[in-house]
Amino acid sequence: MTGGDSHSTASIAARVHALREELEYHNYRYYVLDDPVIPDAAYDRLLRELEALETDHPEYASEDSPTRKVAGSVVRTFSEVVHAVPMRSLANAFEDEEVVAFDHRVREIIELEDGDVEYVAEPKIDGLAVSLRYESGWLVQAATRGDGRRGENITQNMRKVLGPGTTLDGGAVPDVLEVRGEVFMRREDFAAMNREQATAGQKTFVNPRNAAAGSLRQIDPAVTESRPLSFFAYSLGQVAGAAVPDTHWDILQWIGEFGLPVCKLAKRVWGVDGCLAYYREMQKKGGGLPYDIDGVVYKVSRMDWQSSLGHTARAPRWALAHKLPAQEEMTVLKRIEIQVGRTGAITPVARLTPVFVGGVTVSNATLHNRDEIERLDAREGDTVILRRAGDVIPEILSVVRERRPDGTEPFKFPQQCPVCGSDIVYERDGVIARCSGGLFCSAQRKENIRHFASRRAMDIEGLGYKIVDQLLGAGLIHDVADLYRLEKEPVAALERMADKSAENLIGAIDGSRKTTLPRFLHALGIPLVGEATAETLAGHFGDLDPIMDADAEQLQQVPDIGPVVAESVRVFFGQDHNREIVQRLRDAGLEWPRVEARQAREDSPFNGKTVVLTGALSMARSDARKILQSLGAKVTGSVSKKTDFVVVGADAGSKAEEAEQLGIRMLDEREFLSMAGHEDGD
Ligand code: IVH
Repeated sequence: MTGGDSHSTASIAARVHALREELEYHNYRYYVLDDPVIPDAAYDRLLRELEALETDHPEYASEDSPTRKVAGSVVRTFSEVVHAVPMRSLANAFEDEEVVAFDHRVREIIELEDGDVEYVAEPKIDGLAVSLRYESGWLVQAATRGDGRRGENITQNMRKVLGPGTTLDGGAVPDVLEVRGEVFMRREDFAAMNREQATAGQKTFVNPRNAAAGSLRQIDPAVTESRPLSFFAYSLGQVAGAAVPDTHWDILQWIGEFGLPVCKLAKRVWGVDGCLAYYREMQKKGGGLPYDIDGVVYKVSRMDWQSSLGHTARAPRWALAHKLPAQEEMTVLKRIEIQVGRTGAITPVARLTPVFVGGVTVSNATLHNRDEIERLDAREGDTVILRRAGDVIPEILSVVRERRPDGTEPFKFPQQCPVCGSDIVYERDGVIARCSGGLFCSAQRKENIRHFASRRAMDIEGLGYKIVDQLLGAGLIHDVADLYRLEKEPVAALERMADKSAENLIGAIDGSRKTTLPRFLHALGIPLVGEATAETLAGHFGDLDPIMDADAEQLQQVPDIGPVVAESVRVFFGQDHNREIVQRLRDAGLEWPRVEARQAREDSPFNGKTVVLTGALSMARSDARKILQSLGAKVTGSVSKKTDFVVVGADAGSKAEEAEQLGIRMLDEREFLSMAGHEDGD
């Protein structure tokens, strides 16, 4: 993209023309094909550049510029619907100042001198807009937004999405009621659907929005029905035969009374401060919400003020979309590097031109495995779309083929470990690649020692990657047991170390001698034995020796330990060098109290039960899971007839609904903790 500053008249005209063409093309990819090639943020930048040029050079303004029209035209396969009231878009803001300017303009037009304007703030759901027309309470027509005046008739498909919402509840239904809202897909539904599509060898979708669009615009309504779509109503179109409430807030309640879903996060706020506080709140929640949002919307609540404010061709003047930092961005994949993990697992990592996405600068993303690289056909030099939603690890969604430079080569996955040269072996049908070098591989040794020292294992403060590297490099240690024989002088002699820091490090290592059995087990780095499994093993066997000597059958008697984990534990302790390291650690004075097999477990209402966790809890999901497992419960990912309890956090999605339908007992976090014997809620 080139800037449009200080150009000659001809080059400005050319740039305006080029931007219009490019925007039209992307509108077509997005609205007609449901298959955009650039992220929304890149699109927004093009649109803004064009807006700025048209403002600065009004001579180039044009009625059919993409800045004036609502994008998205009608696709032929569905019949056409003319909207009784046009469906407009929203003006966008990216900075706080733009919200201040919006409020200022609103106050000027409604001539409000004192006091704050009441706004309704709502999440801007990332899906697609639809208009539902009810006559005497019956859904008679549903349409996409299309170009704002005409959309596609998707009545049959929306009947499937709405289910009981096909008829309005309540006695006093208006003769005509047009409800507008967003069709979208919840994140967990999206993930499950994509998994199913992949298993069935069908097309997968890059994000929930495209999945929702692709699923709604299916010619066969049965296909739409099989896709997990949701709907939230957020405004009205035409209404006849009823008095419309005086405020947008009351309209939302009114729509809710007809039995249609309205987003519960909508809130009344006052003035700019109220708007911005809401924005920050949603920004914090963003990644934890059960669905994608791309911003928040502020709407002047009073309907008489909305009328005075009116609208431009494209958007109402009484509303503003305040965008969250983009979750998807475009950047260049510079290099693909291979990382070797603690257990030898080989992970390809994408080194990227740093890009600001989801509120942080990202310069690396995982490429998961060989299959993923092949699926994406990601090559060094490619322009890629990167996504970072909430706190999720950034991932590459797709390659922008149109921007592929000449001379790129498909990536060749190595056959040998790039660190130690040992052969790479494949597990699980070739999906997982592993270096066969074991502790011969210095990358694995380093990861092993780092893991041993990590906070949730032996918790040795100050023993980070750098120092581990130095200690290994200087030959002061070869494995974790050597840590306990380190002496101050040689450590202090290492680069950037001094007496004091060496003393601190040795003090921290000393301090870790008194530990707990679960920590120690976790620290050993047995493949597939994480914190929770270490806890379970310790709780079941009470001490280390019975675990080391257990056979696969005994191990499998432990709740939640299946044949694969059992085998991994058995193989680990079956190796002489692992037993030897354990012995040397014990000789070095490592000790832990015996773990009393918990009586609590037998008495717990969760013992032997199947539990599903859904929605946002105040504690990490993994902790809730651990508590349940330690009480003998099995924690599963989906609700079925076999589920005994569903623990429901904030903004729970379809799982809570399923549980309700199946009549499964639902617990809120408080009930769950009290039944688990954690009365104090932590
Ligand atoms: S109000 C005339 N409210 O954002 C005002 N739109 O960029 C119509 N959207 O086409 C829109 N959440 O698809 C409104 N709470 C919300 C929304 C919302 C998502 C979408 C909608 C609209 C687009 C405009």
